[in-house]
Amino acid sequence: MKIAVAFGTRPEAIKMAPIVKELTRRGVDFSIIVTGQHRELLDQKLDLFGIKPHHDLDVMQIDQDLFQTTSLVLQRIKPVLAQEAPDLLLVQGDTTTTFAASLAAFYLQIPIGHVEAGLRTWNRNNPYPEELNRQLTTRLASLHFAPTTWARANLLREGVSAEEIHVTGNPVIDALLDIAAEEYRFENALLNTMDYATRKVVVMTVHRRESFGEPMKRIFQACRELVESDQSVELIYPVHPNPQVKTMASHMLSGTPRVHLIEPLDYRAFVHLMKQSYLILTDSGGIQEEAPSLRKPVLVLRETTERPEAIEAGTAKLVGTSTASIVSAATQLLQDRKAYGEMITQINPYGDGTSGKQIVDIVLSALSGSSFKSK
Ligand code: UD1
Ligand code: UDP
Repeated sequence: MKIAVAFGTRPEAIKMAPIVKELTRRGVDFSIIVTGQHRELLDQKLDLFGIKPHHDLDVMQIDQDLFQTTSLVLQRIKPVLAQEAPDLLLVQGDTTTTFAASLAAFYLQIPIGHVEAGLRTWNRNNPYPEELNRQLTTRLASLHFAPTTWARANLLREGVSAEEIHVTGNPVIDALLDIAAEEYRFENALLNTMDYATRKVVVMTVHRRESFGEPMKRIFQACRELVESDQSVELIYPVHPNPQVKTMASHMLSGTPRVHLIEPLDYRAFVHLMKQSYLILTDSGGIQEEAPSLRKPVLVLRETTERPEAIEAGTAKLVGTSTASIVSAATQLLQDRKAYGEMITQINPYGDGTSGKQIVDIVLSALSGSSFKSK
């Protein structure tokens, strides 16, 4: 029995790490294929989790477009998958790596297991291109690891058979809980000297393609207005290395008092920064999943979300990208302790920290059964 695991970006590495850890612990024969869709952000995570890839497709180009990434992954993964000939390829999420690696495995008739299956906005332009990457991966996969019952219901509605779907939580929570429990001291001088008790530390991340241009300008304008109107706010923004993001962030925010533009943080530092923060503003998928487990309110800087569970539970609010709505929602949480308190509910909708183990159990049991092999 041989398994291959493919991933290429920061969030995929974080979410695959608990699965890799569990496969290693069980002595399973597996190989790790990284596409290198991200370079520094990926390598940072590989180092942290002690993951050593067997194959690195090294596809990242500066300011790459979707055609380049998709075609390079398809071309370069073909000989690797053909050589490895795994009984199952595990992919995660909704990136170009996820979709292109799945398509390649399908062409080679290798069965696919999809981690974080069934999230949907049903809006093909938002998130773009992730909504379609995820839907297409569903069509290609034969084992679907849904993080929640809502995700499972989406898959059932699309005709995926119930035996192929397993609700396992999201392995991001395994990674998060492990790291959040550790003692930690920041290496970054700003984070190390920040007075988290008296300053209101707002952590922000923004990187989505559909926010490039005007939406991102409106978000950054909201940041300027927030720090101007409340002197206790320190806004910390680890800027994604995408040139489209870096250029706009530097143009609109550098030099703004109490807005701290910093390099992307390694996962340990970022988790501990979220833990110390007052409020999180983000368009990230993974951070929407992590924040409820850290009991931090999140304002989601997007028009849609494929992660409604935290919103339904009241710990996240979808505020869109209009300057006024971001400023108004953030100001309320900065000034109104009651409104703030109402958003801090103790819920873990995305998992209990055992997802990696559950997924490996299911994979091993599926691969030892005859029905899966004949697919
Ligand atoms: C990708 C995913 C997105 C995911 C995000 C996580 C797609 C289409 N998008 O978006 O779903 O939420 O990763 O961060 O798969 N870059 C570097 N170093 C890095 C990483 C990126 O310099 O380590 C720069 C490069 O110039 C690269 C650009 O960022 O060309 C964009 O990277 P890309 O993976 O295409 O898009 P993301 O916005 O990172
Ligand atoms: N993250 C990190 N360092 C940072 C910012 C984010 O380690 O400086 C982590 C974050 O905790 C989450 C993941 O990266 O687990 C989210 O990645 P990203 O926002 O890039 O992608 P998305 O989740 O939107 O696909």
